[in-house]
Amino acid sequence: MSAKLKTSVPPRWRKEVQSILITDEQLARRVKILAREIERDFRGREMVVVSLLSGTVMFLADLIRHLNLPLRLDFIGVSSYGLGTESGELVFTKELRIDVRGRDVLLVDDILDTGKTLSRVVPKLRLLKPRRIKTCVLLNKAARRVEKIQADYVGFEIPDHFVIGYGLDFAERYRNLPFVGVLRPHIYKEVSQHVCKK
Ligand code: PRP
Repeated sequence: MSAKLKTSVPPRWRKEVQSILITDEQLARRVKILAREIERDFRGREMVVVSLLSGTVMFLADLIRHLNLPLRLDFIGVSSYGLGTESGELVFTKELRIDVRGRDVLLVDDILDTGKTLSRVVPKLRLLKPRRIKTCVLLNKAARRVEKIQADYVGFEIPDHFVIGYGLDFAERYRNLPFVGVLRPHIYKEVSQHVCKK
């Protein structure tokens, strides 16, 4: 397959997706490398992977299958509700069930954007007294940061585009795309007149 074919948006999605920012091959390669870095740092110690619902679904599945060390997996449900592309109030929809006291925790999220989510979740996890918390995000959109927070492991630095796919949504759609794409502005501008989930 030529490079051009790999980076062009499939015809089915062209009306909504402007371009592919990260191809499925690039995702697969980078996720494997991230897993190796994490493995090295955790030195075979058992970890609790805490993943934030729902955007991590694909990243998490790919990442943990490359983590060659013992782990347990749990989820925290957290969502930002607001107008259009702006993160609003954070709502917790599922609490952690595994006891992380004294454990090494790897906190996984799909995107670090304003930083409001991680800067609320990390202190909440610290209250549970884990031995340490390392944060891992697939995408880092540093241009939009509001909170002073950075992740320990970052898959890709990305510019300030509205990205969807590989787990990331707009109004719960597009999570199934196998690549990270840029949403056409008219799609989110139309919906941003109504109250919707980011
Ligand atoms: C998205 C994303 C991150 C968060 C990042 O979650 O999954 O958790 O926003 O944004 P921030 O750094 O500005 O806080 P969303 O609330 O859209 O839920 P989702 O994971 O279910 O899509």
